[in-house]
Amino acid sequence: MRHVIDQLPGSKIREVANAGLGRRDVLPFWFGESDEPTPDFIRDAAVRSLHDGETFYAHNLGLPELREALSAHVGGLHGPVDAARIAVTSSGVNALMLAMQALAGPGDEVVAVVPVWPNLTAQPAILGASVKRVPLTVRDGAWVLDIAALLEAVTPRTNVLLVNAPNNPTGWTLTRDEQATILAHCRRTGTWIIADEVYERVFFEPGNACAPSFLDLAGPDDRLVVANSFSKSFLMTGWRLGWLVMPPTLVDAMGKLIEFNTSCAPVFVQRAGLAALAGAAGFVPGLVERLRHCRDTLLPQLAALPGVSVATPRGGMYAFFRVDGQDDSLAFAKRLVTDAGLGLAPGAAFGAEAEGWLRWCFASRDPQRLSAGVSRLKGALGL
Ligand SMILES: Cc1ncc(COP(=O)(O)O)c(C=O)c1O
Repeated sequence: MRHVIDQLPGSKIREVANAGLGRRDVLPFWFGESDEPTPDFIRDAAVRSLHDGETFYAHNLGLPELREALSAHVGGLHGPVDAARIAVTSSGVNALMLAMQALAGPGDEVVAVVPVWPNLTAQPAILGASVKRVPLTVRDGAWVLDIAALLEAVTPRTNVLLVNAPNNPTGWTLTRDEQATILAHCRRTGTWIIADEVYERVFFEPGNACAPSFLDLAGPDDRLVVANSFSKSFLMTGWRLGWLVMPPTLVDAMGKLIEFNTSCAPVFVQRAGLAALAGAAGFVPGLVERLRHCRDTLLPQLAALPGVSVATPRGGMYAFFRVDGQDDSLAFAKRLVTDAGLGLAPGAAFGAEAEGWLRWCFASRDPQRLSAGVSRLKGALGL
């Protein structure tokens, strides 16, 4: 086996979840998904497709009608994007891996803004690239980007800048000005940007249908690949459907990479994606409102606890907080499972920069569960 694969760290979130295995009384908030199933209008489309016998291979880059629908959807949010620049992928994580396969190999340098969902930094490592980490820093309890440090880290030797905003786990979001500065810098250094924008719709600033996107600023020929997913904004985590937007020069290569990875996304899943996009205007704003309600239920209760530091996230589905005196997040998260029946993700899962923090996914059908979770946390802290 390749050394780098042998050395890949296991998921610390799974390690905590395994500590609660077989216990039905645990309230789980550790994974990045809601407890609400995919809406019927999306499920029905997949069932119809299966009934119609759509059980065959499809085009590598996706059904033409789904690429067109994505072009309209993305274009409606960010300005025109030609369907020819879009590839349908088998999930957001697959989209990110394909982008990384196309752009970084052994000896290449990837700069990543961290802490971040660990899959993002594992991908270049698997491919043999080196990863330089640029940490977000905490100011007044909120995570912020030291833009000067990022620009210093990205040099002409940097093949790829990897940035996820809204960020999992911190909720940090890039501003439009920061995006413009980063894009201008990467144009000068010749660096590709892989932007993970899977939480773009899960954004709580009033009057904004989505978070700022690099697509709002970049031209079609910029070295920019944007990864997105149906998972979060359509409650479709189990379906494994995503997409990429890329410059025209990359599309043929991406088709080949998809052929050699998955060959295509399943047709009935793509039909579900088409239904999701057709119903997006009637569904996504309501979902975001429900998530906002969840956020606004959990955050004040957490912030009121003595010794707890937490900032209200502008986007994403996570409260990211720390408790004074609890510096070993894995041990603390395991103790919360075994002693209090509360399932949270340890900050250490997202990199050393997030050690001492905990991530709480607040996406739930029932905000009362969040309050019940806070009671368990209080019990564990002796409050
Ligand atoms: C930051 C980030 N990017 C990408 C993904 C991938 O989502 P999926 O593979 O379900 O589309 C996730 C999922 O949790 C995520 O948190």
